[in-house]
Amino acid sequence: MTLAEKVGQLNMVTAHMADTGPGMAPLDLDAVRRGEVGSVFNLWGAENTARVQRVAVEETRLGIPLFFGFDVVHGHRTLFPVPIAEACAFDPDLWQRTAVHAARETSADGVDLTFAPMLDVSRDPRWGRMVESPGEDAWLGMRFAEAKVRGFQGDDIASPHAVAATAKHFAGYAASIAGRDYATVELSERTFREIHLPPFQSALAAGVAAIMPAFTDYSAVPLTGNAAILGDLLRQSWGFDGVILSDYGAIAELVPHGVAADLQDAATVALHAGVDIDMMGNAYLSGLEAAVEHGKVSIDLVDTAVVRVLRLKHALGLLDDPFRRMGENGTWEAIASKGRDLARDAARRSAVLLTNRSGTLPLASSGGPIVVAGPLANAWREMAGPWAGAVDLEQNVSLAFGLEQALPGRELRFPSEDEHGAAMADAETIVLCLGETAEMSGEATSRTKLDLDEDQRRLFDFAAGTGRPLVVVLFCGRPLTVPWIFERADAVVAAWFLGSEAGNALADVLTGAWNPSGRLSVSWPRDVGQIPIFYGQRPSGRPLGVDPKYSSRYIDSPNDPQFVFGHGLSYTAFEMSDLRLSATNLKVGESLEVSVDLRNSGDRAGEQTLMVFLRDPVASVSRPLLELRGFASVFLEPGDSESVSWTLGPEAFEGLDAGMRRTIEPGVFEVFVGPCADVEQLLKVSISIEEKTIN
Ligand code: GLC
Repeated sequence: MTLAEKVGQLNMVTAHMADTGPGMAPLDLDAVRRGEVGSVFNLWGAENTARVQRVAVEETRLGIPLFFGFDVVHGHRTLFPVPIAEACAFDPDLWQRTAVHAARETSADGVDLTFAPMLDVSRDPRWGRMVESPGEDAWLGMRFAEAKVRGFQGDDIASPHAVAATAKHFAGYAASIAGRDYATVELSERTFREIHLPPFQSALAAGVAAIMPAFTDYSAVPLTGNAAILGDLLRQSWGFDGVILSDYGAIAELVPHGVAADLQDAATVALHAGVDIDMMGNAYLSGLEAAVEHGKVSIDLVDTAVVRVLRLKHALGLLDDPFRRMGENGTWEAIASKGRDLARDAARRSAVLLTNRSGTLPLASSGGPIVVAGPLANAWREMAGPWAGAVDLEQNVSLAFGLEQALPGRELRFPSEDEHGAAMADAETIVLCLGETAEMSGEATSRTKLDLDEDQRRLFDFAAGTGRPLVVVLFCGRPLTVPWIFERADAVVAAWFLGSEAGNALADVLTGAWNPSGRLSVSWPRDVGQIPIFYGQRPSGRPLGVDPKYSSRYIDSPNDPQFVFGHGLSYTAFEMSDLRLSATNLKVGESLEVSVDLRNSGDRAGEQTLMVFLRDPVASVSRPLLELRGFASVFLEPGDSESVSWTLGPEAFEGLDAGMRRTIEPGVFEVFVGPCADVEQLLKVSISIEEKTIN
């Protein structure tokens, strides 16, 4: 390979079927012919990728095949709930199954690699990309990472039904200051290591093929040029030898970041840091050869990157069969037809019943007229949410349509704005569909206010003013600070963006065909002023309540969120009893069995999720008030009971001590079990861990 051909393998360009970054340009096939392109993204359709692949394989000197990448973040042709919503299902098996299906559709559509899972632990809903994340908790993020990587990649990414996964954005991007996308990040080493890194470690342990560094910096060094994090930590300490592919233009952006003088300098910094592929930055293509000629970069470093890229192509089976994912393994249509039931099941498990006063929900199959109104009632396109490039939005199901299918025996009214008064006056129930539209969520959608616009507020006030039972279905990519809705509506459902089957799934939840089981994957703030807000906060020296004035509090708001992490109501009731441990004294390094009995004390079958939290009340550092260490979901018929158990391995008790060493500090640990991160709703028991005695 010539140096130019080597550099070409490190260059990834967009084909512009989807718009995912600035300065898009259609794919230049002559650049492919010149061997200047190693991979292409934002192109799908077996016939489309095959056409470009033929140019690479038949019209270049070496005939090295391309690989094709695309953002399959929550489904490809069949859309599943956005990640923040799917995380609310607390179901790793479901997360893996939706990734398996997405991989089947994607690989049948000519694509080899997805830029997913996104693993940014998110605690700031002003940041629009919270929608793409598995929520606020690192431990939940770890489980999500494992499930998604296994789902996308299967046992072998050479399989024509699998795609390579990319863990992104490594790391700490969600902590951009003030929730402003692409802004600098202020993170302690402790928070970086305890909260933001673990999901990526889990992705690596699951065998993720690629890593995408974040646009942002860690400790003032942009991740894309951060040799300490990409080199020393990721490659050396963690042993990752897969491909590191930059985010969109991120290598070139080292110049505006102020750590590179020009593209040649940016290319030098990024390659030394360990970035193998330049996505749309044109830095490697325009700067690497000169950097080698000027002795800034060794040819060995270029060869190392090229080998990783060729090794990925080999692992994907492309060196044996460049057209491996281009129609030989079934068509995406045939596969997609089998995805709708899974999409509906995933969606109804991801919806969260936030409030339900006096049993307003579920809607009965017979009764008086139901009014369905609001800008999102029949907005089937919006159900996709962001990152829905390949889906046919016309195939999405709106809530209006879903309710029509689910309640054939009910009079459903869909009034236009000027008909609201008459339609609502004698309604048995009003279902108001409010919230964000899809383009208000995702990348580059940071918001300073998380409220609804004036029109929606006016519509809500009007509907609440009728005095008729009022259900609000809230579509959003993040929690919205709408306390006035929670105060006045009789029931509220967090409907997120639930994907292709959103309308049918929400109808299942509203009618009780599915007893809502979703539990919040993020804390829901009352007010933007509380952000960042999350359950795993460290205690204060003056915790709330120690003094009427001198304590950690606001003078204009409660401290607690509108709804805690794990909140979610059901149409039935559950009771826990008899929390018990396999031991009350452990030696460091031993495991602990935790068990509790759960009973469905209501009159309807339903699924309950229980969570296990730990707290180390006295340690060399101030440890979080609660740390999630397990969850399990149980489906029970009315009156039935079941014992739920978890095994906590030694790693559950580990933390970073004052010297930043990962260790188990002997002493008392408190074990909590319950439905959410509200201590009032948790059963608690203590255990003592002693040093292992060396005989
Ligand atoms: C975008 C996003 C990244 C995505 C990439 C390719 O800017 O930051 O998540 O994978 O570009 O579309």
